[in-house]
Amino acid sequence: MKNYISIKDVDQYENQQVTLQGWLFNKRSSGKLRFLLLRDGSETIQCVVFQGDVSETSFQNADLVQQESSCRITGVVKKDPRSPIGYEIQVTNFEIIQLAEDYPISKKEHGPDFLMDHRHLWIRSTKQYAILRIRHEIIRAAREFFDQRDFVLIDTPIFTPNAAEGTTTLFATEYFGSMAYLTQSGQLYGEAAAMAFGKIYCFGPTFRAEKSKTRRHLTEFWMIEPEVAFYELADDMKLAEEFVTHLVKSVLKNRRPELKKIERDISKLEKIDTPFPQMHYDEAAEILKKANAEFSYGNDFGAADETVISEKFEKPVIVHHYPAAIKAFYMKRDPQNDFYALAMDMLAPEGYGEIIGGSQREDDYNVLLQRIREHKLPEDAFQWYLDLRRYGSVPHAGFGLGIERTVAWICGLKHLREAIPFPRLIQRIYP
Ligand code: 4AD
Ligand code: MG
Repeated sequence: MKNYISIKDVDQYENQQVTLQGWLFNKRSSGKLRFLLLRDGSETIQCVVFQGDVSETSFQNADLVQQESSCRITGVVKKDPRSPIGYEIQVTNFEIIQLAEDYPISKKEHGPDFLMDHRHLWIRSTKQYAILRIRHEIIRAAREFFDQRDFVLIDTPIFTPNAAEGTTTLFATEYFGSMAYLTQSGQLYGEAAAMAFGKIYCFGPTFRAEKSKTRRHLTEFWMIEPEVAFYELADDMKLAEEFVTHLVKSVLKNRRPELKKIERDISKLEKIDTPFPQMHYDEAAEILKKANAEFSYGNDFGAADETVISEKFEKPVIVHHYPAAIKAFYMKRDPQNDFYALAMDMLAPEGYGEIIGGSQREDDYNVLLQRIREHKLPEDAFQWYLDLRRYGSVPHAGFGLGIERTVAWICGLKHLREAIPFPRLIQRIYP
């Protein structure tokens, strides 16, 4: 292994000679000078090649090198107040590891299909790089939030024998002579784990054969799902708002340069703090009836409806007590009025829509069995789930936060496809 340093660490080597390895991001020439912008994944730095300082080969290499060629550069670290990272490199040796072919992505505008076809290269560009760094921070902070509160991480299976979130969006696959389904949510297994560990979370990819082509739907997305024994709906909502606040604050603290690079209006994120506004479904329905003549009471909200409600607030808003008829079989009904489920959704501001769905779960064996029958779900496949109500059932609640919806909101993206490294959409499974 060659001895080299990360560009982000150059500040520790002022006036010393270092070797950097990376890719050529950009190049400019002026007389006997070549200005090479090198990126290595940690940062980007300008490397100045002066003909008089380097061998003939090095200078020829500097002329030859094309965007995205891999290179090894040795030089002296010099302070430079004009540089975004405060330093530049005075090059003493320049090697090309691989000379890149003509790079397909240029500065000119490309259409979304072209960029998505080149997603494997597109992620090297400044904006996509910044978004995926912020995604990493959101995931890091999400784990940190639950770990600090003594939640146990439980990995739930991807192959499942049954639906968790309704049968219309299941991906089926053959499983040694029988059928298996890609998981839509880890929740049901999370409930089992909550009865063993009290407070748990699962975090993994989830799959939904979404037939509609929208900006807000992926067929493969990542969801983090806490589940807590003895929690009721109000506890669940409180946990959700503290969680989302932690995510936003962590990004503001640790990824401010990236937010600036993607030109996010940071003042909007700075307003996010507990408590979040809360609203009963009936109240939301009133607002919608005034704004949208087509909305009819009892229905679920469409994307446009969510926007109408969320635009009333600068913080995410939690809507609770949805009609049970439009919600999942496992949700507990409101004991005061069983028309409603003890459900809640969190809608992000600025029209980003639902980022969290959650509920208190039905904890009574007989009622749950009846729901499974009403929803025409296979009773056999749910015996293990019913066992949780046979052996020490307790009130419990949880929620799921969609990582890509959260990234899209925090980054201010129009489409979910830029919020995940390699999106899977109804019409896209390449690259
Ligand atoms: O509201 P959903 O369907 O809730 C559940 O899956 C529950 N089992 C969670 C739980 O209580 N443990 O989905 C939760 C979140 C949504 O709010 C949204 O952020 C995201 O998952 N989501 C999607 N994200 C991208 N593409 C899709 N097709 C999504 N479907 C849901
Ligand atoms: Mg939902």
